[in-house]
Amino acid sequence: MTGLDIVLLPEELKNKDISDCLVVVIDVLRASSTITTALHYGAEKIIPVYMPEQARARANEYPAESVLLCGERNGAKLAGFNLGNSPLEYNNYKIKGKIILLTTTNGVKAIEMAKSAKEIIVGSFLNNKAVSEHCLSYAGKVLLVCAGDRGNVSLEDTVCAGMIRSSCAYQLYKNDYHFDDSTVASIIYRDSGSDLIAMMKKSVWGNHLIEMGLKDDIAFCAQKNIYNIIPIIKGDSIIVKDKLVN
Ligand code: MLT
Repeated sequence: MTGLDIVLLPEELKNKDISDCLVVVIDVLRASSTITTALHYGAEKIIPVYMPEQARARANEYPAESVLLCGERNGAKLAGFNLGNSPLEYNNYKIKGKIILLTTTNGVKAIEMAKSAKEIIVGSFLNNKAVSEHCLSYAGKVLLVCAGDRGNVSLEDTVCAGMIRSSCAYQLYKNDYHFDDSTVASIIYRDSGSDLIAMMKKSVWGNHLIEMGLKDDIAFCAQKNIYNIIPIIKGDSIIVKDKLVN
């Protein structure tokens, strides 16, 4: 890893040449957490599709028994969809072998905005350690891209990016890498303390989910390093990185 910067909103990618970069898309509440959980429980692949009607159309391309139409807008499951976007709907083996069409407000959009990157992976608190190790092993520039919340900076995404950056800080120091002003993320991370649930209860989207009765989602998404997998974009899908080998 020759350098690491944090992008607090995916729209900032428009001004960057990311063709040689590893991009880590971070949407803690909840797309990154859901994608990581579903793949841990054996989903065949996840196809991120931003527009709900496109997701519905793509689902018809697969046998009904093998596909799940999933996603949310404003945090709520879309009408006629099999599942919403709570990781607690995916942390079971009913997911095993399924093809998941997923549409979400910010996370899927951030993945689409990062499409010109050399490599795109998905990061969350749940797989934080695996992601940090992958960043350290990458032979180039790393961009941690926060999905944000409907065009606004997200506290939880920023803290997660700061946590990943702090795991990589020594190597960056050895490379004498000078950060840009997005290093504020690591300061926010350091100042947010160790109680990730308390931190997320202060965030706009965290409060929105609590008002929806989804406080258990916050507790789930606040767990650190429970999954040792890296979701990676391959073509139009997201799969577990190791599956790239065979
Ligand atoms: C997002 O994409 O912004 C989130 O995943 C929305 C949600 O909480 O489901």
